[in-house]
Amino acid sequence: MSSQFPEARPRRLRRNASLRSLFQETEFSLNDLVLPIFVEEEIDDFVPIKSMPGVMRIPESRLAGEIERYARAGIKSVMTFGVSHHLDSSGSDTWRDNGLVSRMARIAKDAVPEMILMSDTCFCEYTDHGHCGVVHNHEVDNDQTLVNLGKQAVAAARAGADVIAPSAAMDGQVRAIRRALDEAGFSQVAIMAYSTKFASALYGPFREAGGSALKGDRKSYQMNPMNRREAVRESLMDEQEGADALMVKPAGAYLDIIRDIREASRLPLSAYQVSGEYAMIKFGAQAGAIDEDRVVRESLGAIKRAGADLIFTYFAMDLALAGI
Ligand code: PBG
Ligand code: ZN
Repeated sequence: MSSQFPEARPRRLRRNASLRSLFQETEFSLNDLVLPIFVEEEIDDFVPIKSMPGVMRIPESRLAGEIERYARAGIKSVMTFGVSHHLDSSGSDTWRDNGLVSRMARIAKDAVPEMILMSDTCFCEYTDHGHCGVVHNHEVDNDQTLVNLGKQAVAAARAGADVIAPSAAMDGQVRAIRRALDEAGFSQVAIMAYSTKFASALYGPFREAGGSALKGDRKSYQMNPMNRREAVRESLMDEQEGADALMVKPAGAYLDIIRDIREASRLPLSAYQVSGEYAMIKFGAQAGAIDEDRVVRESLGAIKRAGADLIFTYFAMDLALAGI
């Protein structure tokens, strides 16, 4: 054989499907996926979310049945977002023992005790101005919001939430929540920090999903998408404050950040494939431009390959129904 032919031939391991799957480096399963859901109070029917084809707001009265359906399909964990009809300037419904945050956790855990319930911990769906905290002198007041985050986390834990997931992007929120939980006797309840959360245009459809009242933006508290060093710093700060797991959000356009944090920390790392990422795939497929199933699998596989252990995705139920 003359030396003009290659000695190394990677194609040898790609010749058929069996070889390819034997040598595949990255895989995901239902054990890695968390399904985010939207639950609205005081409505009777499911409400389709136009900017997220296939996703509905769930009436609170139907939540138990939905959780049972997810469990039957093999979903292991959900993240709850409430669509509230009780807005005020601070989002005080979130820390009432009979408020929507507490009721969602209680209903879901009563329906399927082994379903891991992650409680999104923020205020933007419960405030009349739509910001993620208390507004004072035209700014979101960090430290007043910390006090309220602690109250909400304790209420959610009391209602049975397994994991508190603070998404308000306030400085010190993990420490404040850890202290509040421990003082209330919930030292066993974990914190999944939205530790590196960018002020992303990809949250657009979520605002419709949650019926957000926000005018303006969240750039004074969420991160500048152009900052890589700061992204690592934010997650390491949350680790120091006592986070049990970290998160990068959004996911697909931030694979470099996922890899950086994977290498900088030994904590479990999650990534959130957000509403805009979902919408781009759905509408692209509806237009006939891409194959939805293949793009979903490629996008989630890439997020895992980048270093995420867990992925929050609105496609989780589709995958579960497909048998993964
Ligand atoms: C609010 C929150 C947002 C998302 C999760 N929690 C929106 C925002 O920060 O503006 C986005 C989720 C998505 O787009 O899928 N704290
Ligand atoms: Zn918020």
